[in-house]
Amino acid sequence: MTEASTIKHVASPLASQTLLDGSLTRPVAGVRPIRLLPWLQVVKIGGRSIMDKGATAILPIVEEIRKVLPEHRLLILTGAGVRARHLYGVGLDLGLPVGSLAPLAASEAGQNGHILASLLAPEGVSYIEHPTIASQLAIHLTATRAVVGSAFPPYHHHEFTGSRLPVHRADTGAFLLADALGAAGLTIVEDVDGVYTADPNGAEGSKAELIAETSYAELAKANGPATLPFDRALVEVMATARHIERVQVVNGLVPGRLTAALRGEHVGTLVHTAARQG
Ligand SMILES: Nc1ncnc2c1ncn2[C@@H]1O[C@H](COP(=O)(O)OP(=O)(O)OP(=O)(O)O)[C@@H](O)[C@H]1O
Ligand SMILES: [Mg+2]
Repeated sequence: MTEASTIKHVASPLASQTLLDGSLTRPVAGVRPIRLLPWLQVVKIGGRSIMDKGATAILPIVEEIRKVLPEHRLLILTGAGVRARHLYGVGLDLGLPVGSLAPLAASEAGQNGHILASLLAPEGVSYIEHPTIASQLAIHLTATRAVVGSAFPPYHHHEFTGSRLPVHRADTGAFLLADALGAAGLTIVEDVDGVYTADPNGAEGSKAELIAETSYAELAKANGPATLPFDRALVEVMATARHIERVQVVNGLVPGRLTAALRGEHVGTLVHTAARQG
């Protein structure tokens, strides 16, 4: 054997087969991933529903987070809100591709994160960028109780082209991150009590009923709610979740709801995913 071929040889159970054959990859890739940060609670704060409302909505939630910090270690992720909607409007009018719109919208989510982190700075909370979340979250959360980041997933110029609007938005990003980290939970903070049978602020709002408990499969059905308070893509990624067994949707305008959810109480809506315990 020449020296070159010895150097190139890499011992791997997947080295000499296609990655497309499930029967060959399953023994290696079918195992459950480890939980990287099992003590972490991820909280997604609505861009439109909380941040855009300004002081009246933001200051009480800041106070609630401040009080709950001794109990939990938090990754707080912010949504994009109305500035992203404006951006989509202008961008679509100009014909910008979805791969150009996604990073611009993500930067709006980041702005909301900077605002929230500034208000929590006296508690030792800072805004951290995605590369830092990816590689240094553990050290940051060992030094402090919480950090803030953008909930948008960094698909950016790689955003899928099925829609003119980015389909992977803040809720999907928060879920993918929480699941990848093997976090203890994900709470989505909105301006409504949870998921309703129809948009409670829509034309049929008076008939809408709160759904206390449901699953990704129920929400995906054709007779499920026509609209949701989170990204449709979130329902899709819940179907392949590895760790996060349920997502809790709570009303951040009602003091105490976020605290109750973080303490494991059933407030708002519980949405079960396909992940199994054990
Ligand atoms: N089935 C539903 N149940 C509850 N709310 C719904 C439903 N369908 C639509 N909504 C609406 O979703 C709104 C929340 O909007 P949205 O989720 O876009 O805000 P957000 O999460 O703050 O935004 P962002 O994604 O920018 O963070 C609620 O105020 C409600 O009117
Ligand atoms: Mg929402």
